[in-house]
Amino acid sequence: MKSTTVMFEEDPILICLVVALLLASILIRNYSSRSDVQEDGTSPVPSSPKAQVSASKRNPGQWIPIDFKAPDPPPYPDWDVKLTKPLPYRPFKHGPTYFVNMGLRKGNFDDWIELDNEYLKFHAIKKERIETRGDKLCKTAPEALDAAIELLEILCDYLPTRYPSMFTRTSVGIDNTVTNERFNIVQRPLAEEPMKTIGRLIQDDIAIMVEGSDGQSYLKSGSIILPGFWKLEEKFDMNLSEIHTSGNVPQFREKLEKGMVNFFKRVMPDDMVIRHNYFMQVDDGLAWSHSIGPEDASNVGWFTAERDKVVENHWFRTERQTLRRLPRSGGVVFTIRTYFHPVVDVAKEPYVPGRLASAIRSWGDDVAKYKGSEKYKTVLLKFLDQENQRQIDSGLISEGGQSHLKYPY
Ligand code: HEM
Repeated sequence: MKSTTVMFEEDPILICLVVALLLASILIRNYSSRSDVQEDGTSPVPSSPKAQVSASKRNPGQWIPIDFKAPDPPPYPDWDVKLTKPLPYRPFKHGPTYFVNMGLRKGNFDDWIELDNEYLKFHAIKKERIETRGDKLCKTAPEALDAAIELLEILCDYLPTRYPSMFTRTSVGIDNTVTNERFNIVQRPLAEEPMKTIGRLIQDDIAIMVEGSDGQSYLKSGSIILPGFWKLEEKFDMNLSEIHTSGNVPQFREKLEKGMVNFFKRVMPDDMVIRHNYFMQVDDGLAWSHSIGPEDASNVGWFTAERDKVVENHWFRTERQTLRRLPRSGGVVFTIRTYFHPVVDVAKEPYVPGRLASAIRSWGDDVAKYKGSEKYKTVLLKFLDQENQRQIDSGLISEGGQSHLKYPY
């Protein structure tokens, strides 16, 4: 039998045929990925060919475990529980128009969980809240228990590799050598509800979505300890549409619902996506924004907040959220990492007051209402305009210039 090389040498027609086939396959691949771009202009949901095949084969609510493990992350460079500063996410854009969209971008498994020198503060607040009201904040439905345990197992692998100066992998789980906590995740029954343990390990809040036989994704497990504006107990068991419409998320039906539902059906374990959002608060409540009413009240909202509080009471809240599917259980994990700073501090950063003021002015009426701007915008915009002018006058920034730092920083 002739070798392939010899066949090619002898048959130029065959070579032309192979080249033509290769070109055609490249064209088809480019075309299909371009047709994947969403209407809102955000990045397409990354899905490998393998993932697409598995996704199209499965029935709603069914999951066939996939043999996938994210690569071990490298240690976070020079990470130190006292020195590593929170990353300065400032995910707002200059106006004139604010577009509601999913805003999903491709994420990197190495950066999945971000910890910094606010860890001990977050940990103390979480610990106190788990002790005083943990059953309301951390909960798992029986059909999501495997997903919650799978997530715990993944964290026990990820954290010691990513943050070796704080975590150690043990034969039964994980130790936190800074807080002196030891977690055994193999004993049964577990020492505590797994989402409480997860809450103690990381700064993020977590939601796990499980697909029902109707193909919708339901909130079936959560560690929602620092949510600011919403409560796990009110959204538990809801599907994605119910979660968002009950919160009056602006333009949900028109701009978000279809893409979101499709995303949850298709996301596969080897995909990870990130999105960022931002809010203003007129109090310093990381766990609960008490200016919208007491945490246990049934009817809370911006309508109860005090108007025009002095700017020293204004806080900038931004969330970095990630989504990935767990390979064994099929649950989709939603991480919510909150970064929370006084506005007066954030406004010291070059170009930030000008850009934030422009972003706030770009909100349509629906977004402004959702974000409660009536209660703070007069005071806040006056302050941001002054700070912007101060930055121009001092030569820190140029008028009309833009930060060299890439969005969302
Ligand atoms: C593709 C995924 C998702 C997208 C694009 C999305 C989008 C949004 C948007 C645009 C908002 C308005 C505030 C903001 O700008 O963030 C919002 C609010 C919210 N989302 Fe999502 N979301 C997603 C997934 C989820 C998941 C998995 C949960 C599960 C808990 C969730 C729970 C919420 C809640 C509780 C709110 C606040 C609603 C309220 O004010 O009551 N989201 N989401």
